[in-house]
Amino acid sequence: MATLAKDEIILEMKNLRTYFYTQEGELKAVDGLSYYVRKGESVGLVGESACGKSVSALSILRLIPYPPGIIVGGEIIFQGKDLLKSTEEEMRHIRGNSIAMVFQEPTTSLNPVLTVRRQISETLELHRHMNKEESFQETIRLLKLVGIPDAERRANDYPFQFSGGMQQRIMIAMGLSCNPALLICDEPTTALDVTVQAQLLEIIDDLRAKFGTAVITITHNLGIVARYVDRVNVMYAGRMVETARTEDLYANPLHPYTMGLLASVPRLDVSRKKSLRVIKGLPPNLSRLPPGCAFQPRCDYAMPICEKEYPPLEKVGEEHYRACFAEVSKLQKQQK
Ligand SMILES: Nc1ncnc2c1ncn2[C@@H]1O[C@H](COP(=O)(O)OP(=O)(O)O)[C@@H](O)[C@H]1O
Ligand SMILES: [Mg+2]
Repeated sequence: MATLAKDEIILEMKNLRTYFYTQEGELKAVDGLSYYVRKGESVGLVGESACGKSVSALSILRLIPYPPGIIVGGEIIFQGKDLLKSTEEEMRHIRGNSIAMVFQEPTTSLNPVLTVRRQISETLELHRHMNKEESFQETIRLLKLVGIPDAERRANDYPFQFSGGMQQRIMIAMGLSCNPALLICDEPTTALDVTVQAQLLEIIDDLRAKFGTAVITITHNLGIVARYVDRVNVMYAGRMVETARTEDLYANPLHPYTMGLLASVPRLDVSRKKSLRVIKGLPPNLSRLPPGCAFQPRCDYAMPICEKEYPPLEKVGEEHYRACFAEVSKLQKQQK
């Protein structure tokens, strides 16, 4: 595929650094993260818990609590404009209109004392300037779109009257109510069972195909997103360790961390003789990162240089980059 024109890119994060200043000192939650998303593209942001996925997403919306958090550097270019230089008023407009975020916990975003209908139609009246009748029709349409059965009647219910999976659907409907150019889904399905997770990802993917919404899906489960994302960004300790188109990442992972994540995902195409593995050890404390590669203490391929220097992101294929000193051929041999 030829390199796409610059205007195809809707979001470009460049060298983002978001730190927290806590009692333990400086915590580098996101430390030099760069990635891009094209119009209508679906991108996964994957990594174990506490590697900076949510903080990077909240940085896009400028929702990092200060104190203790500060975006200390970088650029986040959205539709040609640096969000980090936007005014608070411009950000409010962007949050309601161009970028929507669906959070992990529906209870943090759904108002318990308002009916579902009120919550969605208020957004529509405020941001899309609809009158009462229009907003009602649109609310019902959105609820049907995300698969709420008997939407006309159920719209008058309160959030607690829905199951967890249905609450997540309502959140997605709310996210879509502003017709965003970019939808960020932060582990929206984690608390749900696998079938419901798949249904929701399917719904989000249908909506993307229908409306051309770009989607960033955040998850710690590489297995879950495989079918739904065009490209995967793998994060470790606040940085990108590997990025590739989904097929390439699965067929030819070239960072030991990605290999570890893949080995711990149940796969249908691999016989069960090989038992699932977990990556040994734990992610590092981000306020006490070792010098050199943060994954090195857990890595089977670590060499002396890994303790001293941080490996730069190097190109290993079309749209495929990785940050690792281990020889490509050595990693490939291991996977045979
Ligand atoms: N408000 C906060 N105050 C202090 N530390 C925070 C805050 N929010 C996040 N962090 C820290 O930033 C790091 C990255 O967190 P997060 O982005 O939530 O991880 P995840 O990849 O699981 O989404 C973690 O070490 C977390 O403890
Ligand atoms: Mg998170």
